[in-house]
Amino acid sequence: MSRNGGAERPLASVVVAEPKFRAPKGTRDILAPESARRRALVDVFADAASRAGFGEVVSPMFEDMGVFRRIGESTDLVTKEMFDFYDKGQPARHLALRPELTAGICRAFVEHRPVPPWKVWYEGPQFRYEQPQAGRYRQFVQVGVEVLGTDDPQADIDVIALGAGFLASVGLSRVRLLVNSLGDPMCRPVYMEALTSYLQSRRDDLSAQSRVTLERNPLRVLDSKRRDDRSVIDSAPLMVDYLSDESAEHFDAVRSGLESLGIAFEISPRLVRGLDYYTRTTFEFAAEALDASQNAVGGGGRYDGLVEDLGGPVTPGIGFALGIDRILLACDVEGAFPPPRSALDVFVVDVTGGSQALALCDVLRGAGLGADRAYGGRSMKAQMKLADRSGAPFAVIIGEEEVASGELTLRDLRGDSGQRRIPRRALAGEVRHLLETHGV
Ligand code: HAM
Repeated sequence: MSRNGGAERPLASVVVAEPKFRAPKGTRDILAPESARRRALVDVFADAASRAGFGEVVSPMFEDMGVFRRIGESTDLVTKEMFDFYDKGQPARHLALRPELTAGICRAFVEHRPVPPWKVWYEGPQFRYEQPQAGRYRQFVQVGVEVLGTDDPQADIDVIALGAGFLASVGLSRVRLLVNSLGDPMCRPVYMEALTSYLQSRRDDLSAQSRVTLERNPLRVLDSKRRDDRSVIDSAPLMVDYLSDESAEHFDAVRSGLESLGIAFEISPRLVRGLDYYTRTTFEFAAEALDASQNAVGGGGRYDGLVEDLGGPVTPGIGFALGIDRILLACDVEGAFPPPRSALDVFVVDVTGGSQALALCDVLRGAGLGADRAYGGRSMKAQMKLADRSGAPFAVIIGEEEVASGELTLRDLRGDSGQRRIPRRALAGEVRHLLETHGV
């Protein structure tokens, strides 16, 4: 029985009606403790990026649609996957939820003119109208970095090393780093001509989808995972064989820099990426723990013409973005990065009605400790159940007897030190001491 005389109603017996509304297709509610795990993961990234000299940029979740057109008029991202809309302005503005952050960061660079090199990191949700499946959502979270204003290959190496180091630091061990060069405005047109005429000559051997892609964006045909396309793609000319001297030198410098840092990588000459702004270095992190079609946990590269495309001065850039949702899926498979321990240190069990718990939680929280309690005057048994579930290593029990003696009962919920009486005023100090000595 609860204090007010009503029977304790087990939650399981409540009949739950079908919800009238669900999260929109391709989106999810992330609940605790998974939400705490995500936050911890982003914190690890923020720490790594800050220690490498990157400052955080917080930019709008929507931008003028024109900003995103620079990602590539013929990419799926721009033609099919934008969440775009018109606002209520007179005249109405054509806006879109951001599908990625690189274009927005370049827009911000042009707008604020920071002193280059500008090194920024970011985190936040991105939106793409994709066909949802495991590891592919319509709203997903990326963390990333961009360096604007230098074409030094050392920046490429630094950026790639930061991504690889972060993935290793969260405990992922089965991640392959794929690297390629997509050339520059000097050599790319020559390659594109060779590739297009080759693909045209093999047109009849391509899948129907790839024939359509060939008309819009021949480079993307190389990205096809369809079996029918395999033999055509395997014999296609490769960008690496067409690199200008400058781009080849840049690529060599990146490769030897990665080697000098002991970072394992594979040259992947057919890695083209899904966005059109790339020049020279491109790379992807592929998690072997995930299904091959969805195994990119991150990717990036150089985009030396993007700032100019957005109306800014000639400004080379390089960066990457990592998908937090996919990283966590890979961590699940590899048994890495468990949720952090509960932020609660003490659960206060008050069998006098509740006002004692109010005061004790206030004292504990004021002392910088984590404390929670139950509501509704529940039975001792019910409160102890909640204490166990809360993740707090200690329970403090207070009944009429403790109130009268100015004491509390402190119970160890995890270890084997049982329970004992302590003076009420010693509570915060005692808990802190136990946390330190038990290393909880
Ligand atoms: P991206 O390859 O389009 O690159 O996305 C980077 C990562 O975001 C992917 O590797 C993947 O982990 C994650 N991701 C992408 N789409 C989804 C989705 N629908 N659901 C879940 N995760 C997804 C970019 O966005 C570039 N802005 C990266 C960059 C930065 N390049 C230069 N600087």
